[in-house]
Amino acid sequence: CCFKRRCKWINIKQNLSKRRTPWEKSNQWPIVGKLMNFTDGLFITFEGIDGSGKSTQSQLLYDALNDLGISAILTREPGGSIGAEIIRSLLVSGDTDRWSAETEILLFTAARRDHLEKTIQPALTKNQIVICDRFVDSTRVYQGVARADLRQTVDELHSIIIKKEPDITFIIDTDPEKSLTRGLARNSGEDRFEEFGLEFQKKLRNGFSELSKTEKSRCHLINGMRSKEEVSNDILNIVKDYTK
Ligand code: TMP
Repeated sequence: CCFKRRCKWINIKQNLSKRRTPWEKSNQWPIVGKLMNFTDGLFITFEGIDGSGKSTQSQLLYDALNDLGISAILTREPGGSIGAEIIRSLLVSGDTDRWSAETEILLFTAARRDHLEKTIQPALTKNQIVICDRFVDSTRVYQGVARADLRQTVDELHSIIIKKEPDITFIIDTDPEKSLTRGLARNSGEDRFEEFGLEFQKKLRNGFSELSKTEKSRCHLINGMRSKEEVSNDILNIVKDYTK
């Protein structure tokens, strides 16, 4: 039920494994030590169009870090805290014209502020790795480009209320037609944005692709039209490189 689904995300998956993992013995992945030594945590976000597989990839990265005994949390937007999950239910269901793009910006930013205060910042302060399924880049592209031409409004509000950018962002690039079919087939009851249709998803794909060019230092455009293992290997290698 909806409540159970929400609980899954409120009880953010905590990886506090005390296990001693093979890398410590074999020294095969010395970057683990470096990852553990980040003084302000590490903030990694996943972005992409609906049905792009970014949630699967967030989970796979979390699992890989878990296997290495690295302390991480997996969270999502909109949502990831009690208040933000309540706002989520307002945003992802109902008719497409339920909210204007301007109102959506306010609601997503309100949810993000709560998420940042209650979940993201506390974890970063504890020096954990935060893996977040969507963050401000979704607002930049969904509300700032695809829904309306409001990119400046998104950035201005972000600079006042949130003031936080990810360290690394993975944009999973996929074919809009296939992704939309996959997304709608899930029948999640959370498909308000998918209901905007294929042209909307095409605009989103272009928007994310453009963003990856202007935010080169942190954004990685990943070809998501391959096996999930191939995609997750690339992602893991980039996380490794980041710590070199
Ligand atoms: P999800 O399906 O990836 O959980 O995201 C919920 C929907 O909300 C998805 O269709 C994308 C949309 N969305 C925005 O339009 N703006 C945002 O800022 C965020 C975080 C999500």
